[in-house]
Amino acid sequence: MREAADVLIVNPSRKISGEVTAPGDKSISHRAVIIGSLAQGVTCIYNFLWSEDCRATINCLRSLGVDIEQVDEHIRIDGRGLNLKSPDRPLYAGNSGTTVRLLLGVLAGQRFTSEIYGDRSLSRRPMFRVIEPLRRMGAMVDHQAGGLPLKITGGNLQPISYDLPVASAQVKSAVLLAGLFAEGQTSVREPAPSRDHTERMLKTFGAEIRSQGSIRTVRGPASLEGCRIDVPGDISSAAYFMVAGAINPGSEIVIRSVGINPTRTGIIEILQRMGARLTILNRRVCGNEEVGDVRIKGEDVLTGVTVDGEIIPRLIDEIPALAAAALAAKGTTVIRGAAELRVKESDRISSLVRELTRMGAWIEEKPDGLIIEGGAPLRGCICESYGDHRVAMALAMAGLQAAGQTRIKDPGCINVSYPSFAHDLGRLT
Ligand code: S3P
Repeated sequence: MREAADVLIVNPSRKISGEVTAPGDKSISHRAVIIGSLAQGVTCIYNFLWSEDCRATINCLRSLGVDIEQVDEHIRIDGRGLNLKSPDRPLYAGNSGTTVRLLLGVLAGQRFTSEIYGDRSLSRRPMFRVIEPLRRMGAMVDHQAGGLPLKITGGNLQPISYDLPVASAQVKSAVLLAGLFAEGQTSVREPAPSRDHTERMLKTFGAEIRSQGSIRTVRGPASLEGCRIDVPGDISSAAYFMVAGAINPGSEIVIRSVGINPTRTGIIEILQRMGARLTILNRRVCGNEEVGDVRIKGEDVLTGVTVDGEIIPRLIDEIPALAAAALAAKGTTVIRGAAELRVKESDRISSLVRELTRMGAWIEEKPDGLIIEGGAPLRGCICESYGDHRVAMALAMAGLQAAGQTRIKDPGCINVSYPSFAHDLGRLT
């Protein structure tokens, strides 16, 4: 494994072994900084993910007057309570959907106007899904055709009961964060369970929040108290090595400290259904989140599966990795009900189909998913990452199975979630 400035070179590798520690969870790192900023007193965050996306969140909050510094191996936040400072320039969210959508919930509660913008990919992603409930709560939002850049004037919010049209943790979190500022109970109903890190973390900081069936309710105005947060490892980053271990006979990998919150473990369940020898060891609780070490042994050839329904939001970010596993499986893998993939950092359905077809895969594009026939002979080639970290890492997993060298362009995008990916993969192969 080698990373030249503008290309990631992947050589075929049939046997992968060793241990890695998953980097800090991206979703939880964002939430820890945002909620810590709104708390009274000091919050210390350990195992924070220093990636481009999470730095974008820190930079925005610093512009909003929050004192955030790195002290040795942790981050220290001097929370401001619910009232932030009016920023003197537009806030830049970079490539990060979580930064912009969660911060919109917070900005909806502020009595000033802020502008927020992002890079080209983020500017194309849908924001109306967040704007709509926040307007109902009383925020004023000017936008560009439902996307960025946008301007938001907040304050004086009313609580609402909101039915999410899509299972989205980002929209749910935006409404719950706005609910911290509204007087009374704000609730959100989800059509299917999405990651619940916001709910767990709000509880850790002392917010009044409860769950009943598919409804999450928060009471405002909230009073949050600074605390210590230990961020578990990111299962979305660990997923690439789970796949690498599962598809290569003779492999044995242990991934340490992986977050195994049940709203995120769809990938483990599906790999096990495909026949992967995957075991969770040393289960423990870290703050309000479950953690374990994941051991994967490459033994039998995997079998294709159908993936759809309620599990989709629980593995939405792992579908590119799953597609790489399906290439090595016996039979057909069908993924459906995953149209959300089209509005991620790239249109992941078409990015994967284009690049994996170029490598020789038998893969078909569907409006809401993919059909993959395993067993095609893959050949290494020059691939586009479309500036999408998860596409780039999934192509690297396909490259391990191909004959000859695979060169992935623009690998710098991987820094948004997993800056040490090339290094960790190099150690294992
Ligand atoms: C995230 C939620 C998911 C996920 C994204 C991170 C989060 O998006 O795809 O990478 O941190 O809340 P949606 O909530 O839009 O499904």
